[in-house]
Amino acid sequence: MLKQFFPILGRRVHDTVPLTYLDSAATSHAPLPVIEAISNYYLNHRSNVHRGIHQLSEESTQVWEDSRQVVERFLGAGAGELIITRNATEALNGVAYGWGWHQVEAGDVIISTVMEHHANLVPWQELAKNKGAELRLLEVDEAGRLNLEPLPGWLEQLPVKLVAISHVSNTLGTINPISEVVSMVRKYGRSSTRVVVDGAQAVPHLPVDFHSLGADFYAFSGHKMLGPMGIGGLLVRRELLDTNEMRPWLFGGGMIEGVMRDRAVYHSDPAERFTAGTPDVASMVGLAAACQFLTDQVGGMAVAAAHDQKLIQLTLQVLKDFPQVTVIGPTLPRTSAVELDRSGSVAFVYEGVHAHDVAQILDSEGVAVRSGHHCTMPLHQACGWVASTRVSFQIYNDEADIETFARALKKVHTVFGV
Ligand SMILES: Cc1ncc(COP(=O)(O)O)c(C=O)c1O
Repeated sequence: MLKQFFPILGRRVHDTVPLTYLDSAATSHAPLPVIEAISNYYLNHRSNVHRGIHQLSEESTQVWEDSRQVVERFLGAGAGELIITRNATEALNGVAYGWGWHQVEAGDVIISTVMEHHANLVPWQELAKNKGAELRLLEVDEAGRLNLEPLPGWLEQLPVKLVAISHVSNTLGTINPISEVVSMVRKYGRSSTRVVVDGAQAVPHLPVDFHSLGADFYAFSGHKMLGPMGIGGLLVRRELLDTNEMRPWLFGGGMIEGVMRDRAVYHSDPAERFTAGTPDVASMVGLAAACQFLTDQVGGMAVAAAHDQKLIQLTLQVLKDFPQVTVIGPTLPRTSAVELDRSGSVAFVYEGVHAHDVAQILDSEGVAVRSGHHCTMPLHQACGWVASTRVSFQIYNDEADIETFARALKKVHTVFGV
């Protein structure tokens, strides 16, 4: 039913084949209310923010600020805790430059995991290299769950400054126990140890409440959660902003209160202090519209999460009919008492056929999936996969999409004979 809000899903590819879009972990589609909100902004309000006293500029400032509030509330963050960025990658780099650059010293330790997207790994490699710090990675077990066993010991014995972890893996689909990790950091770590969570794959599917999670930083992208491309954010625990532990990493107009010839005083309001230059107001308006759509039309993130679980179970079920297929990541609940701890996608290896060939055959049937290393090369290396094929979902996908995918996958067998 929700498909009607996404006209692009009605198009055909290769001239004739109806599109079946199963690549939302890479980029989701935006519903009409998001597209209309953007175009309404350009048609009626476009003007620079915070710099004019004419009506258009005031309107533009108002929608910018209203949109910020909508997004903060949607993610359970407080006023001023959202730093608006272009995407999750920029948000994570913001932690490296706005926090790590000042806080990490030679000999310090940064802990991350082998399952991270490169966006939550390469900035820490760079930071560690520049500061003479050590980067350690937690490993995954055979089911694709994080092995947290070494963490308390590392936190107790080493000068750990940062733990950088994804909320949901974009390859394994694993939902990591963020609250448990935060509790370990608070219990065994130092008072200066910080936790940054890469929420790029969690925000599109799970209810996220920044304050309940207790992390210090939380990064996300708008384009994976039905919003526009080129907008995202970093949630920062207010205290780190107020104590100036987290500092601006982009400088210029808009973020200052005053500028002398040789120095500047930065804005006291963090919402302003981290907005250097002219922001992408239209995309921010679109992102707020996406949050509103998820709340009003979808019925909230609990509904979105339940829908996602249904599609995951269906996909796992159809893949059982393919003996050549090995599913990557958790397939069984950790205990019978909890739900399957995976979200958003199902990736797999097709024995004897390269993932790009699988994806190409699926594409010939109109089924859009992702193939390759999904920006998780260390994970692929650790698990011995050359590449994998990933099917991923959004609220507009339905049972029929999974059936189309299963039919198309049969063609791989027909073509390759394996
Ligand atoms: C887990 C994860 N983190 C970070 C990113 C980076 O997101 P973006 O390219 O929007 O910055 C992605 C993108 O696929 C991702 O899946």
